[in-house]
Amino acid sequence: MNLPEAVTIAEVGPRDGLQSEPGFVPTEEKLQLIERLADAGLKRIEITSFVSPRAIPQLKDSVEVAARIRRRPGIRYSALTPNYRGLERAIAAGVEDIALFVSASETHNRKNVRMSIDKSLSSFRQIAQTAKSRGIRMRGYVVAAFGCEYEGRVLPEQVEKVVLAYLEMGVGEISLGDTTGMANPVMVHRMIGRLRPIMGETALALHFHDTRGTGLANVVAALEEGAVIFDCSIGGLGGCPASRTPAGNIATEDLVGMLHEMGINTGIDLDALIECARYAERITGRNLPGRLMNAGKVIWQPGS
Ligand code: COA
Ligand code: ZN
Repeated sequence: MNLPEAVTIAEVGPRDGLQSEPGFVPTEEKLQLIERLADAGLKRIEITSFVSPRAIPQLKDSVEVAARIRRRPGIRYSALTPNYRGLERAIAAGVEDIALFVSASETHNRKNVRMSIDKSLSSFRQIAQTAKSRGIRMRGYVVAAFGCEYEGRVLPEQVEKVVLAYLEMGVGEISLGDTTGMANPVMVHRMIGRLRPIMGETALALHFHDTRGTGLANVVAALEEGAVIFDCSIGGLGGCPASRTPAGNIATEDLVGMLHEMGINTGIDLDALIECARYAERITGRNLPGRLMNAGKVIWQPGS
């Protein structure tokens, strides 16, 4: 197998995860979770979302979270901004890394942000101008990139249209989201193979949800295609509020555990990460789907 030596892990639990928890996790505990993730060695953490507090009440404390985190050198703390208003609020709270998001499926985008894809993209063009002039880094999410629970199949052309729009805006990174957990390894191979020739210098991240148990298999397919940035959420927290079958991202500790066993470096302390997953269970008050915190990491006895 042709595998990379190291990959970048982008933690999205405090945002993608907590946004779909039934309850509101208090701000102090969100801050503590982010702090512990940073202690475990994560260099990329999506901390919150500057969306409408009516749409996502779980993250209504976004200004406070972004303003109060202890920013450490070498760590990128990002936040979601769906519209210009979100960008302004993010800037006021000191955010230096933003994430734009639009679905590849028209119906999914309308359900999620009450806008057409074209309307989302045109508001992003305005956001991108301001962001660039202020040196704010941008990531662009393609939501529901591998299938939509309302429209079914999402054609690669639909994904490509959004990707091309992002490339034109000058985002530094594009993350393909399998929001609905409908991807499989063959689709992942084909999708990356198709996008590679147009990506240029722009980084490609993969954002798999484990709705149907294919998350880590999809990671392996993406690794074989040369992908080196993976989104995941601690404990497997999360889902998408516009989904009928919300399920979390692949669990960070399960992904990191697998990568380490495959000889791929992440720079993360797996034991500390497993403790973070347990902490995420405590603050959400429920059992999370991550496996390693129950099974324990693989331990090879000397001489075995
Ligand atoms: N931050 C805070 N409040 C915002 C906002 C933002 N970025 N954008 C809009 N609002 C507020 C408006 O002030 C208005 O509030 P009011 O009713 O108290 O006056 C209300 O939200 C509606 O504003 P409007 O411009 O009509 O937007 P909308 O109702 O069409 O909603 C979104 C559009 C994008 C703001 C909303 O659908 C949203 O936040 N969705 C979140 C989707 C999401 O995060 N999904 C998960 C990620 S995949
Ligand atoms: Zn997601």
